Amino acid sequence: MIGRKVLGGMTEYTVEFVGTDETIEVSDTETILAACIEEGIAQEYSCRVGMCLACSAEILDGEVTQPAARGFTDEEAEEYALTCMARPQSDLRLVRGRYPPSIEAPNDAGADGQTAADDD
Ligand code: FES
Repeated sequence: MIGRKVLGGMTEYTVEFVGTDETIEVSDTETILAACIEEGIAQEYSCRVGMCLACSAEILDGEVTQPAARGFTDEEAEEYALTCMARPQSDLRLVRGRYPPSIEAPNDAGADGQTAADDD
């Protein structure tokens, strides 16, 4: 069997970035990051192969497919998208620059960490 190629069969989804008021169309055959770069959206990224997590975004609404998002656990992959790997499966609402709690805040440890983590 040869692979079935559905010509013109790609679907475009609307991806809204909450907080920055940016909305783009992303086809289900391209990654969200690729579409951001095309559209001039300042989505952060580094490795582009699903390892560094720099391109993470929180999923508020919608679904992506990101089988190659190796940096995430299955659970994290439900709530976060690695935009360099993720392709939309529905319209999406994302917050850019959000990371799973397990890898939160990869920033310089300068002042006394004001992370209000109350685990009483
Ligand atoms: S750019 Fe490194 S994981 Fe996406």
